[in-house]
Amino acid sequence: SLSVKEMEERVLKIKARLGKRLFIPGHHYQKDEVIKFADATGDSLKLAQISAQNKEAEFIAFCGVHFMAETADILTTQEQLVFLPDMRAGCSMADMADINQTERCWKVLQETFGDTILPLTYVNSTAAIKAFVGKYGGATVTSSNAKKMLEWAFTQKERILFLPDQHLGRNTAAFELDIPLEEMAVWNPINNSFEFDGNIDNVKIILWKGHCSVHENFTPANIEALRKTKPDMNIIVHPECPYETVALADFAGSTSYIIDTIEKAQPGSKWAIGTEMNLVQRIIQEHPDKEIVSLNPHLCACLTMNRIDLPHLLWSLDMIEKGERGQLIKVPDQIAKDAVLALNRMLERA
Ligand code: 13P
Ligand code: SF4
Repeated sequence: SLSVKEMEERVLKIKARLGKRLFIPGHHYQKDEVIKFADATGDSLKLAQISAQNKEAEFIAFCGVHFMAETADILTTQEQLVFLPDMRAGCSMADMADINQTERCWKVLQETFGDTILPLTYVNSTAAIKAFVGKYGGATVTSSNAKKMLEWAFTQKERILFLPDQHLGRNTAAFELDIPLEEMAVWNPINNSFEFDGNIDNVKIILWKGHCSVHENFTPANIEALRKTKPDMNIIVHPECPYETVALADFAGSTSYIIDTIEKAQPGSKWAIGTEMNLVQRIIQEHPDKEIVSLNPHLCACLTMNRIDLPHLLWSLDMIEKGERGQLIKVPDQIAKDAVLALNRMLERA
């Protein structure tokens, strides 16, 4: 097997040989060993925008998870090929909303609310869910434009179905739009029913019962413990964290927002961050002048993001160069044509 140095040299050689024909986007949660070869890094929104703008790359080796590569495929031309260096790099949250469950839910919502409801989906969802949302006039959202998109959605319809992350939906509705919790219902896709005990006619937002298994690990108990030992610590979390956690934190926002906020902070300031481990560790390394820790002392890793490592990157670039298409991500045209409607409604406003 090859040493790290040999693998790195091979990656660099393939990049040099393919030049502008190859483009490597990398999400902020990717490992350093992968991020160092990325041509662009970003949060989900920026990576979607970059994919839409890039017209020259023939091959896109997407260092992120499956739904991001699907989004890149939908937003690029037919000729541009998108690859995921490890096909097992999924997202457990995206897998929590299945299209058949969604169709069943929609039927009940139509019976309950008639034509007063618009679907929105977090980009962390399958292409089939984006297509569903696109078909019914809705849009995608990311953690950096959820407020703007929710505000837009309420200009279209009285009610919103928000897929698949209940936490991003609830946090945005509660903290950005001041919607009371009593006006939010949860939809349980397993038993195909509401989890709600008030008057259903008053409901403004129906939250799909999905979550991120990484961000659920940042708890109110973590914050309470820190407030006792380090009262001068600023707490900043991703809005995929539970409502109770965001309520106690000082700041909440997307991965880019977290990076920018700490970038602008005073030297000597203290920060506890509630998001994925690779990003937290990178921020710690880049700011030796600040005291930074993970909000959960047991660093929380996204196991699927971490499946993309240096050996997989090298292997996939090698395959791309050889003309092998094993890691190709190709969204069927029938799905892509509706999914792009949902994505474009967001990109026009983001
Ligand atoms: P952002 O980078 O858009 O904040 O998303 C976080 C995330 O969980 C991606 O899977
Ligand atoms: Fe999915 Fe959570 Fe991993 Fe993001 S951090 S890719 S939402 S499991």
